[in-house]
Amino acid sequence: MASSTLCPATTSQLCSSKSAMFSSAKGFAVKSKRTQMMGKGKGMRVTCQAGSIAADRVPDMEKRKLMNLLLLGTISLPSGFMLVPYATFFAPPGSGAGSGGQVAKDALGNDVLAAEWLKTHGPGDRTLTQGLKGDPTYLVVEKDKTLATYAINAVCTHLGCVVPFNRAENKFICPCHGSQYNDQGRVVRGPAPLSLALAHCDIDDGKVVFVPWVETDFRTGEDPWWA
Ligand code: FES
Repeated sequence: MASSTLCPATTSQLCSSKSAMFSSAKGFAVKSKRTQMMGKGKGMRVTCQAGSIAADRVPDMEKRKLMNLLLLGTISLPSGFMLVPYATFFAPPGSGAGSGGQVAKDALGNDVLAAEWLKTHGPGDRTLTQGLKGDPTYLVVEKDKTLATYAINAVCTHLGCVVPFNRAENKFICPCHGSQYNDQGRVVRGPAPLSLALAHCDIDDGKVVFVPWVETDFRTGEDPWWA
């Protein structure tokens, strides 16, 4: 039983509000059993009595739980599938080698195989590959036709141009502002302030692997500025 006192209202207003009440309550199958209007002057008392809902129409709790689970599954499965590629986008790509190393890639994006490389690259060769963090990195072939144990990062320490190797002068000469580095990447002329960065060049299972160089720079005897 519920009762309330309303402000003065015309009969038509009351009827319209009554219909609104019923229409909004339609979905719940609640019907007013009795409506009383009392008084004429200041106020009007309206008494509504809600009828009981048939037992067979009361939502079953187990069904509601099941429907909630189905709804949760419907939402979470597609969301999960969308989140996986989103999360992997921000994860760094696998190196393809252990201990922080990364397999060198040639110009076509293939792994560099040491034996195959030495068949086509002679003594004194410096050819670009894809190195750590995707930086262009020179593989160095020594005079005895072996791969050097170091590789040279080709990014100029002045403003970041990629420095080509000049075979005739046996130097790296930057085309942007003329900085020069010797054949091991040590700066010999500015404006570049520092030598080219180094990486270890290892061979693992026949593949060339770059590993970060964190030891003393053998060219200068100083700590590596890039580590
Ligand atoms: S970027 Fe190489 S000298 Fe300026």
